[in-house]
Amino acid sequence: MAPRNLLDVDDVSPAELIALLDRATSFKDAAPPRDLLAGVPVLNLFFEASTRTVTSFTLAEQRVGADVISFAPGTSSLGKGETIADTAITLHAIGVRAIVVRHPESGFPKRLSEAFDGHIINAGDGTHAHPTQALLDLMTLRHDHGRLDGLRVAIVGDILHSRVARSNIVGMRMLGVDVTLVGPRTLLPDSFETDGVRIERDLDAILPHLDAIMMLRIQHERIVSGLLPSLDDYIRQFQLNRSRLARLGRDTVILHPGPYNRGVELTDDVLDDPRSRYVAQVHNGVFVRMAVLEFLLKSAPVAA
Ligand code: NCD
Repeated sequence: MAPRNLLDVDDVSPAELIALLDRATSFKDAAPPRDLLAGVPVLNLFFEASTRTVTSFTLAEQRVGADVISFAPGTSSLGKGETIADTAITLHAIGVRAIVVRHPESGFPKRLSEAFDGHIINAGDGTHAHPTQALLDLMTLRHDHGRLDGLRVAIVGDILHSRVARSNIVGMRMLGVDVTLVGPRTLLPDSFETDGVRIERDLDAILPHLDAIMMLRIQHERIVSGLLPSLDDYIRQFQLNRSRLARLGRDTVILHPGPYNRGVELTDDVLDDPRSRYVAQVHNGVFVRMAVLEFLLKSAPVAA
């Protein structure tokens, strides 16, 4: 049987997804044994900038006793013309058993997985997927609300370029969350409307009816000209600020994957608001990543 990967959330079944969230929560309550993955070589391969994700993965790997290897891909032989397949074969021969990979190109982790005889964990590829971010968001939501099924969640902003939104949509739909996407047509095309996923252009219309709201950063580095004609207009329509906070429910949880841009998608009031869960999200990331590492490298598959 081919080694399992986590390229996106739906590489696991809904039952496995719940089991992963349970496991991550148990690691939060009691640290896992330091020798859980003792001596397993895990490589962090980040071709794109990262603060939270790379730090969180590294700490998770260390907490379960893995042998952690990180290197700057700028200095790798991929830059000398070596193919992905040859790199994958080389890394496996050296002894690497799992690769945590982030790459600006959508689909890069999948291509790596086709050549690598070990486990691939996607830490964000282009605009495609970021499964462990979705897992930590789901863990945070579930902690606050005690359930996921039937929750009403809005994801607001630059959906088009957001791998975080895509993976969250996949995971939330698997677990029965009712998802509404909010944004301008240029950053949220009508084609995003699918089974169980609604589109709303008027943020103010839905604010009082949400269990959670996830604000996204405008991904300026991925936006081609014309998609964001006026930042002022965007801010007027979609920024979460003091007056919109006042219209959110008392128990509405505010999520943001980070990095956030103060004064654009949110104001300082949001970060100071007791409903804001940014810190909890980052904190939960380490536990979710320990659970994923264990799941892929150690435990037997859970029945679907
Ligand atoms: C996100 C990413 O890199 O996909 N950040 C993260 O991993 N927490 C979102 C972003 O860059 O806006």
